[in-house]
Amino acid sequence: MTTQQLRELFLDYFADRGHLVQPSAPLVLHDDPTSLFTSAGMQPYMAAFRGEEAPPAPRAVSIQKCLRTNDIEGVGFHNRYATFFEMMGNFSFGDYFKEGGIELAWDFVINVLGLPKDDLYITVHTDDDEAEEIWHKNIGVPMERISRLGREDNWWPKDRWEGPCGPCSEIHLDLGPEFGCDKPDCTVGCDCDRYLELWNLVFQMYTEAEDGALTPLPAPGIDTGFGLERLALVMQDVRHLAETDEMAHIMDRIVAVINEQTGSNYAYGDDAHHDLALRIITDHLRATTFILADGTTGGPSNEGAGYVLRRFIRRAFRYGRQLGATEPFLHKAIPAVTEAMGQHYTELGEKEEFSAQLVRREEERFASTLRQGMNMFEEIALELQQARQDTIPGEKAFTLYDTYGFPVELTVEMAAERGLKVDMEGFEQAMAAQRARSGRGAGLATAEETISLAHLPATEFVGHETQSSTGKIVAIVVDGEETQRAKAEAEAEATVILDATPFYAEQGGQTGDEGIIHSSEFEFAVRNTVSHGDKVLHIGTLKRGTMQVGDEVTAAVDTARRHAIMRNHTGTHLLHAALRKVVGEHVSQSGSLVAPDRLRFDFTHHEAVTPEQLAEVERICNEWILDNRSVSVAEMDYDEARDQGAIAIFTEKYDQQVRTVTTEGISMELCGGTHVSSTGEIGSLHVISESSIAAGIRRIEAITGTGAVQHHRQLTDQAHELAAELNCPPDDIRAHSSA
Ligand code: ALA
Repeated sequence: MTTQQLRELFLDYFADRGHLVQPSAPLVLHDDPTSLFTSAGMQPYMAAFRGEEAPPAPRAVSIQKCLRTNDIEGVGFHNRYATFFEMMGNFSFGDYFKEGGIELAWDFVINVLGLPKDDLYITVHTDDDEAEEIWHKNIGVPMERISRLGREDNWWPKDRWEGPCGPCSEIHLDLGPEFGCDKPDCTVGCDCDRYLELWNLVFQMYTEAEDGALTPLPAPGIDTGFGLERLALVMQDVRHLAETDEMAHIMDRIVAVINEQTGSNYAYGDDAHHDLALRIITDHLRATTFILADGTTGGPSNEGAGYVLRRFIRRAFRYGRQLGATEPFLHKAIPAVTEAMGQHYTELGEKEEFSAQLVRREEERFASTLRQGMNMFEEIALELQQARQDTIPGEKAFTLYDTYGFPVELTVEMAAERGLKVDMEGFEQAMAAQRARSGRGAGLATAEETISLAHLPATEFVGHETQSSTGKIVAIVVDGEETQRAKAEAEAEATVILDATPFYAEQGGQTGDEGIIHSSEFEFAVRNTVSHGDKVLHIGTLKRGTMQVGDEVTAAVDTARRHAIMRNHTGTHLLHAALRKVVGEHVSQSGSLVAPDRLRFDFTHHEAVTPEQLAEVERICNEWILDNRSVSVAEMDYDEARDQGAIAIFTEKYDQQVRTVTTEGISMELCGGTHVSSTGEIGSLHVISESSIAAGIRRIEAITGTGAVQHHRQLTDQAHELAAELNCPPDDIRAHSSA
């Protein structure tokens, strides 16, 4: 069975049993200060498990793109590790629990996959009598093949976090003694390759406080994780993940590219050492390509996801040298990733050219510094040897990092190959000192929500239809505490939540609305609107009177401001479409700001947009504006929208039902924002700046509507003033000023 067939088998099995098929959320996370990448299938549903957001459905199924780097050293050596991997999972949000979860998993494993019962082993948490009983009594697994393990193995996640947690139960497959280590105590949980953990069923039940206290979730749920690559390994009867069909296709291309470069005719299987290097390169190339295809990481850098990317590329490149490749080669194998996996992940094809360019540049950069760095590394190693020492000083490791671009993990690995260590503490100190010198803070701020609003009903948003509506106050928050009423004394700052509102909450780059909420009793000026789960929070000041929970109110958006925002939002879609036309299809949005006075569009592109290109982009936008194209909105199924060519932003998480905004003959974007109804309303669009904000990410700022008119007025006034000073007609300033 091919990997693609396995994907379909899993999704179909659960879809047939009432699970809503969910698309993978993005791989690269942007608004989560605690992790850079999605690392589990349940991550998009944290709030749903905690009861703060409605789940997509009571039962769901997904195949989630995941990335973990904690086992990177084991990749290629052991059969179970991959950095990038696909996690298949079924979820129950307050629907079935242990019994249902276990029965479904067993049915799939035995009756669909046909795995041999006698080779399967089960683990449960030490205290989980219930799960053990289900496995033994309901399912019939003999007690000798069920083991109870502690928190390390059978609690998920292992380390405390803010998300849900609970005991878990795993299904392991005995691959046979030929995969084993022959130690007498080799059994489930052994480090060797024999017992492969296939499927983890988590019984999500709690959240855990810092002191370890457990609070039950509003409703217990099921979250499972089944590694697709591991399943492919089993079903295709191969020894390593890299030998499964899709990965083997990528690996074959890497071999071909290297053979072409070195003039050799090496084949996978010829040499154990080379084979290992190839498996590592294959893994890292896949991870690299998927990070880049997410479309939001500018490229390799020394921070965040960009650093991980850099590390993958450099580590893979270094392993390439073991096969004799000294010139860039990785980028040439990227099309093989699309060929192997592009059917399921359409973003691979869309980003292929862009990814290959960025990888090539990084390879070139690294290739040229590697030689010097290698020399320095050899010198350091020799000095240590002569001095009979075994630890590379942190300062030296830092120089290798800072001057020669050696990710410190690479230095550690190269050192280990010679029996040396690296003083990591010293390295961290040198790094911190440099950060302090350059004024960059290492810490990331986390947004702390002090108040839980989970008990409140979701706010209904009516702002697409109207900008003024009536509603009822369902909550008032003052100084972080819910209160029944607030008085206007000293202009009280407060947050108001209504049952329904026309106010648009800041999201997808669009600024939150301003306006007034009032009744005959009070007037509340809304300064900003933000969302909190499915609630809309109106933040502002009580100007007059007393407001109370239960009050019937009128909520009126500042319409002039909102219209300016709508012009800029539709303007952003035009700019996006024009950029794709002029600069290339690889342009994808990596951030945006839609404010009343301007719009800002950040996108992936590896070099500056030329003034000629900018002028062309602006010209096209204005042509479309003058054409007065209609802008229409539709709700449809996510897959249908993607089939119709809708542009999705990969940093956003989408529900099954999505909203599309179509500008007639120009573009269709998945977007929840507010728009004008035809492009003529924008008036005109004027680009005011283009700049770089990070490696591989450009930013364009533009203005529309009255802002553009005012801007032209200012420029014209200035031209007239200059002309007066130069004593010439405004059209002749250039000739006169150079004189
Ligand atoms: N959330 C569980 C895991 O990642 C299924 O293993």
